[in-house]
Amino acid sequence: MTGYRQSDLEQKLITVASGKGGVGKTVFAVTLSHALARLGRDVLLFDGDLGLANVDIQLGLMPQHDIGDVISGNIDLAAAALTYTDPVNRRGRLDIISGRSGSGALSTVATERLMGLKSGLTALCGRYDHVVLDLAAGVDANVQTLADNHGVILVVLAPDPTSLTDAYAFIKLARLRNPEADIRIVVNRAQGQLDGERTYEALRRVAKAFLNFEPPLAGILQEDERVTEAIRRQAAVLSRHPQSRFVKDVGAIAKHFPVRLRALAG
Ligand SMILES: Nc1ncnc2c1ncn2[C@@H]1O[C@H](COP(=O)(O)OP(=O)(O)OP(=O)(O)O)[C@@H](O)[C@H]1O
Ligand SMILES: [Mg+2]
Repeated sequence: MTGYRQSDLEQKLITVASGKGGVGKTVFAVTLSHALARLGRDVLLFDGDLGLANVDIQLGLMPQHDIGDVISGNIDLAAAALTYTDPVNRRGRLDIISGRSGSGALSTVATERLMGLKSGLTALCGRYDHVVLDLAAGVDANVQTLADNHGVILVVLAPDPTSLTDAYAFIKLARLRNPEADIRIVVNRAQGQLDGERTYEALRRVAKAFLNFEPPLAGILQEDERVTEAIRRQAAVLSRHPQSRFVKDVGAIAKHFPVRLRALAG
């Protein structure tokens, strides 16, 4: 098996987290993955909301295999991947592993199986330019275990106060597990640039005061009705509304992730 330096994983593995539910993690993770693929990268999007099916529902996909098949040992992780067909994109590739499970909720998956899943994901970094991990809401042990990796963690929050408190709780726990965790902030559903900046500033201040840590801002995404419209139609926002502000702003974040070596020799 080929190995990776931590610096390679840092830009390859992108975890999307939040604390609070419903802030737009999945639509951001899907659009970011799509944007990276349009930049010519090979991307794997892993739906880490185990037991539920968010990514495949948003994209209107019907995967043959799901994470339940992987966890029960019926198939390996790579075999669960399904390629999203983007007729416009002839350069990069977007593969998806669904978090759906025929065997019900997986929030109580045994730690050792979860660790197996995580090392499988790390290994898959060898086949892709980026692996994007869309996490479940909350700060429970399984969410934290998946988030505790050597990649970049993008914490999504919306301008409401509960979102801020939950994002702070997530960051606090993630930094307790790994004081070096590379956490960056994405503000979603902002009512304009100023609202986004204020939201980021509130989080930065509280993180600085209580954690002595100032997470950098990765980007601000504005409230955009075209996002809701695309999700309702189970269509990728990037395909349906390529000129939308949301797509442009996510595209700007995607451009910050450089291409790294697929694998190191030895
Ligand atoms: N920028 C935006 N503009 C308008 N609506 C948005 C935006 N971002 C997210 N939404 C709305 O928020 C809803 C929730 O989005 P999404 O499912 O991506 O959130 P989530 O954080 O993944 O939720 P969960 O915690 O349940 O996994 C979407 O159905 C969409 O309607
Ligand atoms: Mg989600």
